[in-house]
Amino acid sequence: MNDIKVEVRGLSKIYRSPGEDIEVFSDVVWQASGERTVAIVGESGVGKSTFLHVLGQLTLPTAGEVFLNGKNLTALDDNSRARVLKNDIAFIFQFFQLFNDLTLRENIYIAARMTYNEKEAMERTEAVIEDLGLTHRRDHIVSLLSGGEKQRTAIGRALVKDPVLILADEPTGNLDERHSAEIMDLLMALQNKRNCAFVMVTHNRAMAERCDEIFQLEHRKLHPLEED
Ligand SMILES: Nc1ncnc2c1ncn2[C@@H]1O[C@H](COP(=O)(O)OP(=O)(O)O)[C@@H](O)[C@H]1O
Ligand SMILES: [Mg+2]
Repeated sequence: MNDIKVEVRGLSKIYRSPGEDIEVFSDVVWQASGERTVAIVGESGVGKSTFLHVLGQLTLPTAGEVFLNGKNLTALDDNSRARVLKNDIAFIFQFFQLFNDLTLRENIYIAARMTYNEKEAMERTEAVIEDLGLTHRRDHIVSLLSGGEKQRTAIGRALVKDPVLILADEPTGNLDERHSAEIMDLLMALQNKRNCAFVMVTHNRAMAERCDEIFQLEHRKLHPLEED
């Protein structure tokens, strides 16, 4: 059973800059369970990436707390937070953020090796490559792969560490319609099979509708999307 819980309380984020402060969201209370895939929608610039980065510990909130399975991540010291980020949280980005000069296999292996010893990292890398149907491409340099293959590689890099929480920021934003649909099929199928929570942000309503639950970030708050 997938009983993973992600929760935020009183979450606020202000970007301070000399000219003006930007309050992206304020006093957000929200929770999601790993049993259901979650999409967060909102217009460009509304703060979707910022929210995901705060959830995933890439940046700290100005106020409030993030909990993963009851553990207050915001209260951790830097080392413990880095460990959670390394072992439990995986990101998938719009522009893939792969090492373009390395092979598909090397990209996934590097992520695996951060958590596992050489032998286990190798075995997990091969298993993920097979799972994703990328065996025939595994020794190709990433820059020579198609967009869809790059994103599948990035999904492999996320999955290989067996994360508790997968966060995807516009994962189909750089792909055509057919490859977007394929990537969403893959993400939904994987989340079903694994004991992890999946939260995706997108400005694309059709992609969001593939998830079990949709929330909207608007006017600095996050609320369940009313179906029209
Ligand atoms: N590191 C930063 N420093 C200052 N302002 C930022 C930073 N990152 C994002 N912003 C601002 O915060 C707001 C939300 O940005 P973002 O989270 O990227 O929105 P979205 O992902 O919904 O397009 C925007 O006004 C953006 O310019
Ligand atoms: Mg964004």
